[in-house]
Amino acid sequence: MKIDRDAPVGVFDSGVGGLTVAREIMRNLPSEKIVYFGDTARVPYGNKSKETILRYSRQIIRFLREQEVKAIVVACNTASAFALDEVRHELDIPILGVIEPGAEVAARITKNKRVGVIGTEGTIGSGIHEKYLKKLDQEITVIGKSCPLFVSLVEEGWLHDPVTVEVASRYLKELQEQEIDTLILGCTHYPLLRSTIGQVMGEKVQLVNPAYETALELGRLLKEKDLVSTGKEQEEFPYRFYVSDLAEKFKSFANSILPYDVEMTQKIDIEKY
Ligand code: DGL
Repeated sequence: MKIDRDAPVGVFDSGVGGLTVAREIMRNLPSEKIVYFGDTARVPYGNKSKETILRYSRQIIRFLREQEVKAIVVACNTASAFALDEVRHELDIPILGVIEPGAEVAARITKNKRVGVIGTEGTIGSGIHEKYLKKLDQEITVIGKSCPLFVSLVEEGWLHDPVTVEVASRYLKELQEQEIDTLILGCTHYPLLRSTIGQVMGEKVQLVNPAYETALELGRLLKEKDLVSTGKEQEEFPYRFYVSDLAEKFKSFANSILPYDVEMTQKIDIEKY
């Protein structure tokens, strides 16, 4: 199959969180077009089963294929943990998730080989980071901690609030006691809490932002597959956003974090796919 290098990249998440990944793609690969899907009707994914997340992911991938994307980024950590390994074999276009790029950097930068991971209950329960990190370096010890309240705090816009600092201090205490030197922000929303998490963990702990690492990995993958956009085909809406519910709410959150004014947000019936 011949893939059109000027086609958009499909990016999906359970809702608004994956916009942190879309934002890094916009910043780092400015000539790439994006079709973003946020599953706002079925969010959160973080507390659902593998079977459900796999079914949702397959539906979204069918929708993105209909948009004729050239590659897909699973911008949700929970969906990357539960569905990527399976759907990867079902596709004839490149697909990547957010877990491996973050794990690779963490394995490279840790000095004491004690790496912390924070994420949803689903992501932490899946043990996926440990699997990847151990594959890269057997000696690495991985300490996971789910921090479910962080998602709501971010969506409430309480990025630097004393309540968020208090919640972060409680969640992260365990990781501090375990003397990790590297911490993977293993959930789409957490890069937006970077400064609060950094403040609580202290300067000695390096934070890994998988959203940024994924954008770089996407750039490498497109180059390797000869799929980098020529940048010649200009479009009125280079970034298109689709959701399964409440398009206006999505739009206001998107406008608060993206370096770009979101104009086109469309609601679609994902259950049809
Ligand atoms: N996007 C999800 C993730 O990165 C967080 C929000 C949710 O639970 O759906 O795991």
